[in-house]
Amino acid sequence: MLKGRHLIEPGNLSLEELERLFVLAGRIETEACLQDACRGKVLATLFFEPSTRTRLSFEAAMLRMGGACLGFAEPGSSSVAKGESLVDTVRTVSCYADVIVMRNPKEGAALLASRYSSVPVINAGDGGHHHPTQTLTDLLTIKRLRGTIGNITVGFCGDLKFGRTVHSLAKTLSRYPSIRMVFISPPELRLPSYITSGMLVKAGIDYLETDQLDKVMGELDVLYMTRVQRERFFNEEDYVRLKDSYILDRKKMKLARESLIVLHPLPRVNEIAPEVDTDPRAAYFKQVKYGMYVRMALLSSILGVESC
Ligand code: CP
Repeated sequence: MLKGRHLIEPGNLSLEELERLFVLAGRIETEACLQDACRGKVLATLFFEPSTRTRLSFEAAMLRMGGACLGFAEPGSSSVAKGESLVDTVRTVSCYADVIVMRNPKEGAALLASRYSSVPVINAGDGGHHHPTQTLTDLLTIKRLRGTIGNITVGFCGDLKFGRTVHSLAKTLSRYPSIRMVFISPPELRLPSYITSGMLVKAGIDYLETDQLDKVMGELDVLYMTRVQRERFFNEEDYVRLKDSYILDRKKMKLARESLIVLHPLPRVNEIAPEVDTDPRAAYFKQVKYGMYVRMALLSSILGVESC
């Protein structure tokens, strides 16, 4: 379905292609198929920024399908530390691997890599820009827990300025029918205007911006909590002032619908109190598992071995 294609941002996939990936991920989960589909294939993971879920779920996905993995988890252990450029790194690694998954702090780095790679490049996060496979994870989780992705009110809470998972998910949700979005953040961390006025307004999306989580809790079908992105702040003082702007706890959960789904791309710091973890509406660890299945679906599709 996606053989030989790059995935740089969620807009690279049509709604039909997204749906087919979700169906395939469901079959991989329930039928344990594709166990040997990637035998002889090699995945390279090039991580210029820290990661637990994205890197390890891609590696787990490849290993579970019989393939092999190589790469680096931090650039200091590669020739990047000697001054090698991103372009030369990618040109080199594409001689060794069949697909490259890359995370880099610079916006646009994955797109640049895709122009010089002889194999498909999957963006695992480029600065505050996009994180398309987290969006696949988020949408699959909503679909599995609600049955459908349309006709919902989604609240995004926390660091909406720097949170690439928010940017990718809001952009993608705007393509689904009857989606309402509520953006909850301190004024300093509001969603960039290129997304609000540049995209949501143009798409005719019904959205609200507020700094009051309590007031909107009861309206939400999905609450997408996010961490304040310390690594993207220009000074520590601002980070310290804003980091605990919202803490989801039992008291706030009492204001929410029984059918609410609480998502978080993770890692969390303080923004969801551990006491919420046992609430049946907390779905962020289910989300982690769906992330691996959808990455199995994506890799098998890009490598052209997805028959299941
Ligand atoms: N959600 C996410 O991108 O997590 P990691 O930073 O651990 O990969």
